[in-house]
Amino acid sequence: MAIILLLSGPNLNLLGEREPQIYGSASLADCVSDASVAAEARGHLLEHLQSNHEGDLVDAIHRSRGRCAAIIVNPGAFSHYSYAIADALATFDGTKVELHLSNPSAREEWRRHSVTAAYVTGVVAGFGRAGYGLAVEAVCASLDTA
Ligand code: DQA
Repeated sequence: MAIILLLSGPNLNLLGEREPQIYGSASLADCVSDASVAAEARGHLLEHLQSNHEGDLVDAIHRSRGRCAAIIVNPGAFSHYSYAIADALATFDGTKVELHLSNPSAREEWRRHSVTAAYVTGVVAGFGRAGYGLAVEAVCASLDTA
């Protein structure tokens, strides 16, 4: 059994209320539940942390080193400018998936670049709530081939 850490960045605590035309009507709890169910179906355990604070996310990545097999991270707006989270991800040796509900590449100019994406194994973006289960499947496929 592997531990998969799911990290949710700023403003994702407001999922369901926040711009539902972009992010959908599901709450963060709904999305985390989907990811947990998918992980358990594959015999793995999912842990989740949401924070609006960059340092909390960096600390969580540090704590996961050597303990978790994979990280799924939706860094929210930090994707676009947090070199601290990018550097922290670089210290983690396991599988890393960057996850977005929307497709930032199809949105405003400032969302089109991710500074964190270069430090992950792959990206799941644009599938809304379904992305949470897809990200877990991506992790499992990567773990199966490791
Ligand atoms: C997001 C996309 C980011 O650009 C935005 O700042 C978010 C959510 C997404 O899941 O689509 O907070 O990461």
